[in-house]
Amino acid sequence: NTHDMSGMNMTPGMENMRPSVTEIPFTTPLRFPETITNTGQLTAKSVIDAILPGKNARVLGYRGGMLGPTIRVQNGSDVSLRFTNNLDEESNIHWHGLLVPAEMDGHPTQLVQAGGSFTYAFRLNQAANMAWYHPHPHEKTGKQANLGLAGMIIVETPAERALNLPSGAYELPLVIQDKRLDGNGAPTYSPSMDDVMMGYMGETIIVNGVAGAVQTVSTRVYRLRIVNGSNGRIYNLALSNNAPFWLIGSDGGLLPTAEQVTAVLLSPGERADLLVDFSKVPVGTDVFLKSNTFAGASSQGGQAFNILKFTVNKAETDPFQLPAALGMVSPLSTASATKTRLFDIGIAMEGMNGMPMRGMHTIGGKTYLGSRIDESVKLGDTEIWEFDNSKGDEPHPMHLHSTFFQVLNRVGGRNTLYATEKGWKDTVLVMPGERVRIIAQFTKPGLFVFHCHNLEHEDDGMMLNFRVN
Ligand code: C2O
Ligand code: CU
Repeated sequence: NTHDMSGMNMTPGMENMRPSVTEIPFTTPLRFPETITNTGQLTAKSVIDAILPGKNARVLGYRGGMLGPTIRVQNGSDVSLRFTNNLDEESNIHWHGLLVPAEMDGHPTQLVQAGGSFTYAFRLNQAANMAWYHPHPHEKTGKQANLGLAGMIIVETPAERALNLPSGAYELPLVIQDKRLDGNGAPTYSPSMDDVMMGYMGETIIVNGVAGAVQTVSTRVYRLRIVNGSNGRIYNLALSNNAPFWLIGSDGGLLPTAEQVTAVLLSPGERADLLVDFSKVPVGTDVFLKSNTFAGASSQGGQAFNILKFTVNKAETDPFQLPAALGMVSPLSTASATKTRLFDIGIAMEGMNGMPMRGMHTIGGKTYLGSRIDESVKLGDTEIWEFDNSKGDEPHPMHLHSTFFQVLNRVGGRNTLYATEKGWKDTVLVMPGERVRIIAQFTKPGLFVFHCHNLEHEDDGMMLNFRVN
């Protein structure tokens, strides 16, 4: 990125330049990507798919259409996925939410060149959770992900299965994204300076690759497994018609107990595992999964909008009982932390070869350099990291590779909507004015990155290397 933005100021009026959401009629049946398990082929390539009803669009995908298959795997099993890069530029795959060895993590320096292949092989050893996968080449992640490269991963364990949570037709994996579509319904990606500053947001919301999606449901409890796969848009998820819902899990797996909530703030990269009770909704009623506005939402267009329509079309008795306890969280104790690292995050002036450049997105005043080790962590150590956005103007969802963490505290916040933070996280939203402290144990050796998951910020350089050894 070498745009000259020296003349740019962050003025309040700019916030209104974010594309607001245009709803299209909710008439296209929601679809679900095919499911694969431990082995398979993922080929990044150009494919034709229908994002808007009746239109054929050229998009990127890993199999037949936009997005990739849902990968459903058992903890403890061996995964071996062959990646082939049929793009005309380098790519790779990062398994966001899987704890894999460094050499399998899709670090921005572990690239697969155009025409090349690489087998990602690892044994899973973690709690049941919901993860996802996407490309991670520096300065190209935003484009490749926006044009269609992403997919969901579900990790299962015997302990979780014993809870008898809604499954089969009652478990709905949902990848929520916003796109700027052309007349054929193809996502377009050409970030302006505003987009680099605030993230590439689109006016059309798509779920599992479909705009204006509708899903029929019966009067039962459903499990919605949601990934925010957007480049820059934050959702404040809620349901219309007062349909009750519970948050049961976040990035790193199940919460200790189900939390009844009225909204879940979900920033790019984060996941929410929800139970929604349609049992009291009269047959024939539509219920919308929507995004409500929230404090600080002006940077996002500021409005409320619908995401997905559920039509309750069938009465059914529901045997489901909400379990009293879900999963263990086993909090890390601050007493075990050997070190605290402080990172200012946001815009800073970055000099290059002595030449002052525009303000770029930085962590600790630095932009990304693949060959530089920014932080060294001792293997096995527990540390506290603080992200300071108290002087910033933009939200930053900060993501660490190689570990899950817990959120210790949040200073200066205007929202009280961080329900997902009762569990293990790998991505934490740091709103303007906030300082957020997290605690993590580093048990995987090798080279990893941490970065802002606003993909334009990441591509702009808001990413650093850390080495664990
Ligand atoms: Cu989902 Cu480093 O990314
Ligand atoms: Cu950011």
